[in-house]
Amino acid sequence: MEIIKAVRGFKDILPGETERWQFVEDTARKVFSDFGFKEIKIPVLEKTELFRRSIGETTDIVEKEMYTFEDRGGESLTLRPEATASVMRAYLEHSLHASDAVSKLFTFGPMFRRERPQKGRYRQFHQINVELLGPGDALVDAEVIYMLMLFLERVRLTGVSLEINSLGCPECRPSFRKVLGEYLAKKEKTLCEDCQRRLGTNPLRVFDCKVEGCKAAVSAAPFLIDYICERCKEHFREDQEGLKALKTAFAVNPRMVRGLDYYTKTTFEVTTKSLGAQNAVAGGGRYDRLVKDLGGPEVPGIGFAVGVERLISLLPELMEDIVRSPDLYIASLGQEARKLAFILCNRLRHLGILAETDYSNRSLKSQMKRSDKLGARYTLLLGENELKERKAFLRNMKGGSQEPVGLDDMENQLVSLLKAR
Ligand code: HAM
Repeated sequence: MEIIKAVRGFKDILPGETERWQFVEDTARKVFSDFGFKEIKIPVLEKTELFRRSIGETTDIVEKEMYTFEDRGGESLTLRPEATASVMRAYLEHSLHASDAVSKLFTFGPMFRRERPQKGRYRQFHQINVELLGPGDALVDAEVIYMLMLFLERVRLTGVSLEINSLGCPECRPSFRKVLGEYLAKKEKTLCEDCQRRLGTNPLRVFDCKVEGCKAAVSAAPFLIDYICERCKEHFREDQEGLKALKTAFAVNPRMVRGLDYYTKTTFEVTTKSLGAQNAVAGGGRYDRLVKDLGGPEVPGIGFAVGVERLISLLPELMEDIVRSPDLYIASLGQEARKLAFILCNRLRHLGILAETDYSNRSLKSQMKRSDKLGARYTLLLGENELKERKAFLRNMKGGSQEPVGLDDMENQLVSLLKAR
């Protein structure tokens, strides 16, 4: 019978890889909590309307990529393509704004976008997502970006660049929209059908289009940043000063528009050359209108999401110190020794030592091989003779040296030996 395989674009994360995931998540938890962020857990399924209203009707995500279906009750539901909208929904549903003027939230989990799968692009992928709601100050932007860069440094990611831009605000963006609309109208014939339609609805989204003709059409388009208002300019300047004060290197990329409609003012992306076309490891920005647009009070916010698959694919190969191998392998020979090994192994685990043993009566040679394969630091040799003489041998698997350990009080001796080294 043929085995059933995973859905295209959905993948398993196996032991050997999961250690890196844990390392990345643990590091995120530590760094974010040092900045006062708290974890929030949100559902993967939401009402479709939430994403339509927040990400924007004319974005690629909403137009082409969402996993939307009617459930058995006839309600339109969508597997979340990103987390910001859901965090905002939870923020409003539980009136978090009423209990604290500042909310610092992070969440981990799978997102779903029906894009064409390729290297670094999946249909189920994972994000580490951060949102800070309350203050609209530019120094907060610098702080959030600084935290992202610190996190990436702590997971030992190298060779990335930070790009920032400003997308203006509802006061200044319409004037740019007009200029861009007029510019693109002259090139209408070279645009794809979707983009021709976007000309009338949301010309900014033409920047996201992957079709060659559209890419060429926008390549010499005017820059939004040249049309932003004085207040947005001032905000962008302060943000840059904040980054400089925190010694965070960045470059302004006036072409970056991000693929979601909710952004205002500061936006940013962390990119790398080694990911090919899917070069963004993380992206984010300010969204001062989103909470209001979702029916809440006027609360500005800023956040980012890191693509975990992409991040992990970039981490250095050698991360031996994050993979936990056994501290001790207990090789035993004979019934009695085996029973002692079983008890000792579980007692040591109880005391926080990673111990392994064998239950299938294999030869000492194959147990030693197994210990080696597991990468155990030490092997305890426990045979009938050893039991008689009330001592076992502890072998250092790296150096090969061997030392005796008395059977009485063995547990304590092993704990102090293994914890000390
Ligand atoms: P985004 O730029 O759409 O932003 O996604 C953030 C990151 O998720 C990307 O930089 C990338 O690393 C990863 N990513 C996106 N799509 C895929 C995919 N198909 N396969 C693998 N990785 C992918 C957002 O989602 C915003 N919600 C970020 C944000 C939070 N803005 C404010 N707060």
